Amino acid sequence: MRFDTPATTNPIDRMKVVGQPLDRIDGPLKTTGTAPYAYERHDVVPDQAYGWIVGSAIASGRITAMDLRAARAAPGVIAIVTHENAGHLGKGARNVAHLLGGPEIEHYHQAIALVVAESFEQARAAAALLRVEYEASEAKFDLAAAKAAGVGPSEDSPDKTVGDFARAFDAAPVRLDETYSTPDQSHAMMEPHATIAAWDGDRVDVWLSNQMVAWTTGDLAKTLGIPKEKVRLRSPYIGGGFGGKLFLRSDTLLAVLGAREAKRPVKVALQRPLIANNTTHRPATIQRIRIGATRDGKITAIGHESCSGNLPDGKPEEAVQQTELLYAGANRLTGLRLARLDLPEGNAMRAPGEAPGLMALEVAMDEMAEKLGLDPVEFRIRNDTQVDPAHPDRPFSKRQLVECLRLGAERFGWDKRDPRPGQRRDGRWLVGMGMAAGFRNNLLMKSGARVRLDRQGRVTVESDMTDIGTGSYTIMAQTAAEMMGVPVGEVTVRLGDSSFPVSAGSGGQWGANNATAGVYAACVRLRETVAQKAGFNAGDAVFAEGAVQAGNRSVPLSEVARDGELVAEDAIEYGDLGKRYQQSTFAGHFVELGVDAATGETRIRRMLAVCAAGRILNPKSARSQVIGAMTMGVGAALMEALEVDKRRGFFANHDLASYEVPVHADIPHQEVVFLDETDPMSSPMKAKGVGELGLCGVGAAVANAIHNATGIRVRDYPITLDKLIDRLPASV
Ligand code: MOS
Repeated sequence: MRFDTPATTNPIDRMKVVGQPLDRIDGPLKTTGTAPYAYERHDVVPDQAYGWIVGSAIASGRITAMDLRAARAAPGVIAIVTHENAGHLGKGARNVAHLLGGPEIEHYHQAIALVVAESFEQARAAAALLRVEYEASEAKFDLAAAKAAGVGPSEDSPDKTVGDFARAFDAAPVRLDETYSTPDQSHAMMEPHATIAAWDGDRVDVWLSNQMVAWTTGDLAKTLGIPKEKVRLRSPYIGGGFGGKLFLRSDTLLAVLGAREAKRPVKVALQRPLIANNTTHRPATIQRIRIGATRDGKITAIGHESCSGNLPDGKPEEAVQQTELLYAGANRLTGLRLARLDLPEGNAMRAPGEAPGLMALEVAMDEMAEKLGLDPVEFRIRNDTQVDPAHPDRPFSKRQLVECLRLGAERFGWDKRDPRPGQRRDGRWLVGMGMAAGFRNNLLMKSGARVRLDRQGRVTVESDMTDIGTGSYTIMAQTAAEMMGVPVGEVTVRLGDSSFPVSAGSGGQWGANNATAGVYAACVRLRETVAQKAGFNAGDAVFAEGAVQAGNRSVPLSEVARDGELVAEDAIEYGDLGKRYQQSTFAGHFVELGVDAATGETRIRRMLAVCAAGRILNPKSARSQVIGAMTMGVGAALMEALEVDKRRGFFANHDLASYEVPVHADIPHQEVVFLDETDPMSSPMKAKGVGELGLCGVGAAVANAIHNATGIRVRDYPITLDKLIDRLPASV
């Protein structure tokens, strides 16, 4: 189904099932430990051997010798895979460094071997006997130093300008020019990357934990140099991904190579201490923001340049994305700087682009409001735009940022905030409030599905879509139930299998709208088939209560499918509505916190997010997404940082004991409000992404609240107590 004109009234608008706060249908499986993750698939193939990955002990250089003799002779060892016996390997289209290193080493903890043994303990013990000699080469690990040495715009991403930024900024009566930095961060999902691989002749079956089944199927085939029809992936349940599982990673490639070498199925879980350096991470940024405004608070010039590092062929963190679209202003400059570093690959993590970008922009806006003597909510409202500022003939499909900010301020009690910092005291706590705008783009991606109607009138949906803890099973079931007029309990959803139609997959908050629109498209087809079989005009047929009806005749679906299962398949494909209209999602984020007047420890007290993100397909699962995202925002503001060892080139705190993320005790009351909205430009579902929106802006709201509490402006995340303690107001 081609979607190239705005959606009109359709069966989803009935909202009998879609839009209801249904419990996740996979919830009981998750909470009873019976939703199997990849590593737990003991049932799928017999005789699984265990693989242990060995990571490089240098960041850059080459392996000069590998002595495998002791490891090979160790008890239980079946096979060892290294670059010496792996054969020729290609590189996936979405991989930056090779997933099996050697002799060249591209980054620290790049996989250099897989040891396969009868037991996990034997594989681990044998791996410790590997003797590897390296020759390290000169390399760069320091973003600030690389930036200071000079990094300009690249050919791939030239600066974007509107009007005359330099002149307008110089002429502006009120100006801000500040630099903000965000650190490297790790996804820290609960389930590590894990794979079971089993060969059958020239075909390989893979059970894994992956967000994007079709991407990864293609990249595995490409790396192995075999047709993708010979590769079958299954990723039905995923214990978190956050962008870390968008791509083929070493656990999968090495399980596949290990199974080939061992001639039996092999399972591999990437060891937790390898994840930070072996896989991808969110790269650190250094962001310069300049804002010029009139004395009454109209922005006349806005500039945002972001510098980040990556391996050769890696991309910059697109931290300036939101600055192109969030506020009005006739003169603009945005640019990305990419420094070549030899740290592990930087890539997508939890709302790449906007999440770190807003951590800078929305603090700059707070600082600017302070300079102007304006309330920060009011300053943002004054600079709203309903069109793409660089292309004024291109409106937003729907933009309710102002509504989010106003409603949020009202619900949060923003009028109780004292604009003068450091005024409110509660015992030992300095108490402050902060806010920020939230912004995240809505992406349109082709997405397919197959639907089946069986003789009992039950509906089955099949798609390679993944559920990374987000609720995909549930909203896809709701969509099919609404379209076919059956109770949601009569729908079975089967996901994450590369033999099913290719979906949008899970990433960039594009999963929900696109994947359900794919189900919608397939259901439109199935409705046509059913109507025809029942002798109705497809246009007249109404699907409700397990039957198809037209005029005064009603036929149960089970009767229509009496002679055998009916099957339909289709995909949603998009025209240019995403180009003609800017499609984005908006939020107002509000935070109240306390800073310990003696220690500088920050404790969040309450949080509110007001979101405008099109139709909310399931308010319960959407809320869960948003509160999880808000929690990630607190992590980014207060705790999360991979510490770079600048001599050896690795992230030193590469486990969950030393890479800190918020726990339940860190997160107090959270409230989420969804504006009642539909966006007919997004898809027949009229929905948009919302999960990542819940994160975008939160970090800045926390930083702004710390400023309001203490008067201290920290422009270098995370805002740990050492950055506050020397500057706290004198204790009373
Ligand atoms: Mo998301 S970081 O695009 O999985």
